[in-house]
Amino acid sequence: MPKTPPKNNLAGKEDPNIDLTLRPAEWDEYIGQEKIKDNLKTLLGAAKKRGESADHLLFSGPAGLGKTTLAYLVARELGGMIKTTSGPALEKAGDLAAVLTNLTPGEILFIDEAHRINPMIEEVLYPAMEARKLHLVVGKGPSARTLSLDLPPFTLIAATTRENLLSQPLRSRFGATLRLGYYTPDDIKKIVKRSAAILGVEAKPEAIDILSRASRGTPRVANRLLRRARDFAEVHGESVIDEDAARKTLAMLEVDEVGLEPQDRELLMTIIEKFHGGPVGINTIAAALAQDRGAIEDIYEPYLMTLGFLQRSSAGRIVLPAAYRHLKIKGYEELL
Ligand code: ADE
Repeated sequence: MPKTPPKNNLAGKEDPNIDLTLRPAEWDEYIGQEKIKDNLKTLLGAAKKRGESADHLLFSGPAGLGKTTLAYLVARELGGMIKTTSGPALEKAGDLAAVLTNLTPGEILFIDEAHRINPMIEEVLYPAMEARKLHLVVGKGPSARTLSLDLPPFTLIAATTRENLLSQPLRSRFGATLRLGYYTPDDIKKIVKRSAAILGVEAKPEAIDILSRASRGTPRVANRLLRRARDFAEVHGESVIDEDAARKTLAMLEVDEVGLEPQDRELLMTIIEKFHGGPVGINTIAAALAQDRGAIEDIYEPYLMTLGFLQRSSAGRIVLPAAYRHLKIKGYEELL
């Protein structure tokens, strides 16, 4: 488990107030991830028909793709009740016990960053998930006793950006795992248009194209870029976000046209300059960048791999020709 939290990029946690205004509150407003929406609707429809609480669900995928939003939509479908917490917030078994015993029947319990749940707390979670039982150890030493409490029916929704870090016993206790992938450019454009309408700002089609292309297939990034572009236009006395405002916003944020941020470029350039373009092991890269390995694997690599800029191989990471072209490195053909 990483000791230092990953450095934030544009997909990092959002300001909760702004998140709330732009977050879709109805299924019909939720753009993209069609397959996941279909699966969820079937699963929830069946549970409702049987009059039971839905199976426990695991949502995995890169940050900013809408895992929390989906959890709220599921809760809405099942009666509207949800309690939220996160792996790092649950420090002691008692923290989880307090949350579990306060659930109302049929409620959703959403645990974000589930890969950071500590193993002692997982032990409390297993019987709660499987048999709706809470086993608490009361007292210490020879006089310690286990207290067993019945819990109301509930559905756990756990979200993680690092599915491979979840323990196997925990993973196996979910009825379904839904993996969110990056959004298509078309879907991101629709999201930017919807958000612009909610924020009451006009954006020209060329500006929407530019901002969407730099959004890393990630709604949270798209919404952030849109808000920064709105700020930029406002400060310059413009009421409309045009192509110029969109380009200058990206330049100001040091985001390039395909959404690379300084840290992405630094990662690629380090592999190219210090390790001949790879293959080089992830721990070596992490040390060279003085970055947490988890942050590299979790935040930067997935998008670079989607772009075809980086490859993970058994021998290590390799920078691919598309990245050399994008970074305008001359004569790279001879290096490969
Ligand atoms: N805002 C953030 N994610 C969204 C989505 N999937 N659809 C519409 N608006 C969003």
